[in-house]
Amino acid sequence: MEYLPDSNTRYKDVDYWNERYRTEESFEWFGDFTKFEHLLKQHVGTEENVLMLGCGNSALSYDMYQAGYTSITNVDYSSVCVESMAERYKDCAQLSWLCMDARRLAFPDGVFDVVLEKGTLDAMLVEETDPWKVSEKAAQLLHQVLLEVRTFDFEGLQLSEFWRPLVSRYIKVSRVLKPGGRFISVTFAQPHFRKRLYARAKYDWSIKHYHYGSSFHYFLYVLTKGEGLSPEDAALERRLLEETEASATDVKFQEVDSEDFLNNIGL
Ligand SMILES: C[S@@+](CC[C@H](N)C(=O)[O-])C[C@H]1O[C@@H](n2cnc3c(N)ncnc32)[C@H](O)[C@@H]1O
Repeated sequence: MEYLPDSNTRYKDVDYWNERYRTEESFEWFGDFTKFEHLLKQHVGTEENVLMLGCGNSALSYDMYQAGYTSITNVDYSSVCVESMAERYKDCAQLSWLCMDARRLAFPDGVFDVVLEKGTLDAMLVEETDPWKVSEKAAQLLHQVLLEVRTFDFEGLQLSEFWRPLVSRYIKVSRVLKPGGRFISVTFAQPHFRKRLYARAKYDWSIKHYHYGSSFHYFLYVLTKGEGLSPEDAALERRLLEETEASATDVKFQEVDSEDFLNNIGL
C-alpha cells in the first residue's frame, strides 16, 4: 500500500503517476493477463494492431506478446512510465512505447483493430461520487477519449434528421479505430453503472460484457464499432436522456421556486 495516494482525486493527476512510477517496478490493476486471456483471445486476433491506452507498468502487453500478439503500441501520459517500459522491453520489436494523452491521440485515422484499456478510464473517473448519475465533467472527459477511440463526431456536422443516418452509414470517417474495430475496456465498474456511459448511438458501437475473477468480479466490455446498440441498450440510452431532461426541468422549477421565494419575502 506504499503507493496509495492521500486522496483518490490524485489518480487523475499525471504528477501522482510520475512520482509513483519513479520507484514502483510493476503493478497489475484488476489482475494479470492469465485472468482474462480466454476472453481476449475470443475478441483480439494475434495479428491485429492493438493500442494499449494508459499502459502503466503492467506486464499485460509483454504477456500478450509472449502469447503470440505481434503488434502492440503502448501509450501513457506519464513520461517516467513510458521511459522505463521502453527500456525494460527494448528487445521486443513488437512492443512500442509512446508518451501521449488518451484525450489527444497523435495517430492517423483508422489504424488500430483494437484499443484496449485496463483501469485507465477508472483512473479518470475517480472524482465521481454517484455512480448512478454521471457528472457533466466526467461525461465530457470520457467523451473526449471515446471520440478519439471510435469515430467521427456527427454532432459537429449540423445535419438534419433525414441526412444524419445516411451520412453516418456511408461516410466512415474514423478516428484511431478501424471500421469493425473493438474498444475493449477492463474495469471494476459493473454493467449497470458503466453501460450508462457506453450506451450512446453516436459512438456507433455494440456493447457486450463479460466478467472474470473468483472472489471479486471484474468486467471486460467489448464495444464493436459499426454494429450499433442492441434494442435494450438503445432503450437504456433513451431512458437516460429522459432522466437528464427531467432533472434539467427539475432544476428550472427549483430556480423559479427560489425566485418566487425571494419575491415573496420582499428581497
Ligand atoms: C489505474 S492505472 C492502470 C495501468 C495499467 N493499464 C494496468 O492495467 O495496470 C491508470 C494508468 O492510466 C494512465 N493515464 C491516466 N490518465 C491518462 C491520460 N489522460 N492519458 C494517458 N494515460 C493516462 C496513468 O498514468 C496510469 O498509468
